[in-house]
Amino acid sequence: MTYILGISAYYHDSAACLVRDGEILAAAQEERFTRKKHDHNFPANAVEFCLRYAEIAGSEVDLVAFYDKPLLKFERLLETYLDYAPAGIRSFIKATPLWLREKLWIREQVSRECEYKGKVLFTEHHESHAASAFFPSPFESAAVLTMDGVGEWATSSYGYGKGNELHLLGELHFPHSLGLLYSAFTYYTGFKVNSGEYKVMGLAPYGEPRYVDKILNELVDLRDDGSLRLNMQYFNYCQGLTMTNSRFDELFDGPARKPEALLTQRHMDLARSIQEVVEIAMLRMARHVHKETGESNLCLAGGVALNCVGNGRLLREGPFENVWIQPAAGDAGGSLGAALSVWYQYLENPRNVETICQGHQDGMQGSYLGPRFLSDDIQDYLDGIGARYQRLNTSELVAGVAQILAEEKVVGWFQGRMEFGPRALGARSIIGDPRSPRMQSQMNLKIKFRESFRPFAPSVLRESVADFFEMDCDSPYMLLVAPVKSELRRAMSADEEALFGIEKLNVPRSTIPAVTHVDYSARVQTVRREENPLYYDLIAAFGRLTGCPVLVNTSFNVRGEPIVCTPEQAYTCFMRTEMDCLVMEDFVILKGEQGDASFVDDLAWQEEFQLD
Ligand SMILES: [Fe+2]
Repeated sequence: MTYILGISAYYHDSAACLVRDGEILAAAQEERFTRKKHDHNFPANAVEFCLRYAEIAGSEVDLVAFYDKPLLKFERLLETYLDYAPAGIRSFIKATPLWLREKLWIREQVSRECEYKGKVLFTEHHESHAASAFFPSPFESAAVLTMDGVGEWATSSYGYGKGNELHLLGELHFPHSLGLLYSAFTYYTGFKVNSGEYKVMGLAPYGEPRYVDKILNELVDLRDDGSLRLNMQYFNYCQGLTMTNSRFDELFDGPARKPEALLTQRHMDLARSIQEVVEIAMLRMARHVHKETGESNLCLAGGVALNCVGNGRLLREGPFENVWIQPAAGDAGGSLGAALSVWYQYLENPRNVETICQGHQDGMQGSYLGPRFLSDDIQDYLDGIGARYQRLNTSELVAGVAQILAEEKVVGWFQGRMEFGPRALGARSIIGDPRSPRMQSQMNLKIKFRESFRPFAPSVLRESVADFFEMDCDSPYMLLVAPVKSELRRAMSADEEALFGIEKLNVPRSTIPAVTHVDYSARVQTVRREENPLYYDLIAAFGRLTGCPVLVNTSFNVRGEPIVCTPEQAYTCFMRTEMDCLVMEDFVILKGEQGDASFVDDLAWQEEFQLD
């Protein structure tokens, strides 16, 4: 047996995964263990979990694969500095000590942290993304497209995979980057670069695309093949500590929005405009890749592939018959790509789609690759803190929870192995009734402690997806946005149309208002029984009860915290919020029956309601 440990670290979202003879045994992001969102440190806890899961020691690992080439990256940093010197001295000084202390010593650090003495192999950043997109996909052959901010030099790459081979045919280079262009607008509209991008995407439907021409004329030279050159006179990320500069401010009618400052129509128009430009670029890239490869399947990864609105449009308007997106499309998934790349390309093992899928729809096992907690351990924990609970068999549990949901109650759903990737997919989820007109604000204000301009996402049975949404394909990882079916929509009155921001979102606009955005779109997760039988059965039972086999599915966490990992974190989150019910494996815990929650620390951590 060959064990390959994949690691991504030191940039954003560190993670580890373990592959045994090509099979993905375990994968997790470090943030879930350290409780530090997007933790970029060496993923010591995630590594430990992977090894524990496989019941092996670090010394039994055959090869370690790291997801990028630190020396190449350092070279890029150095060259960029020299190109702009002395302008970039501040950012250079800020970055250098970390590089000299940690990032260039990965081999040593891996040996130390993992008690591992063997080889450490390094794959290039976009090779890792490409491998994470193709190798676990259900395709024998496919085109591959990766897009992100930046790796070493590459910011996007394309090519094709066939059997156990992956060939990259072309790439775009720093500083010209679709991801960094989007991040520049993320920064400029007042959100956090590297994590606020999905907020820009969520804000876009409120705006008008009135800056599109300006972006395409001034900022970016976007060619027919999707390749692009940015006009660096407007950007500051090569030499400064910000993304954009004063020329950018002039071009877009004012300074960058300060985080948490009021959102205005202008910010919404900016969001809509950059979203439109990114979609155009994604479509052009996809058409080019299609032409160059002649493939009918497309695999996507890299941070830009988390842009599910763009993905949905690519599927509807693009040239590919099938699109498969790696659920951990960001840098966390690079650990997986690196490990699989070593297995298939370095060790030249054959790749067989049927073996990879093992009766599932792809090789990711629903992305349920994290830790699982046994019923006995959960019971010990619950008994230890004096929690009141009922232990039910599966059919009682499914029927009971479906009933609770139908009564507009909000349920914490903690089941099986934690998801790998940024989305909760029914293992660490908070769920509710999407038909309820008050569910949206109730979940936002009383449970997530935020006031969001984004609606929640729906989980729907795969066979029912076309009854609710204008799509009829799998979207297991919530990475495709589709319109809500027109028959289910409710037309807005003129007064309602004139409402601004969240007010507008809070007007029911379909029969499933909690998951319908202001442009009638929804971020869909389709659920098949073979991926998650219990979650499937629950949605089906809710469907039998209500005629609506759809649930609201949001991640099990509160604002600013990583998704919960352990029963203790789940129970604490449950007690701190106004969730009505918590279901952990076969235990049902009702809020009304719990006693004093004084062991939960004071509620000072609750931030004031802010736009999320
Ligand atoms: Fe990346």
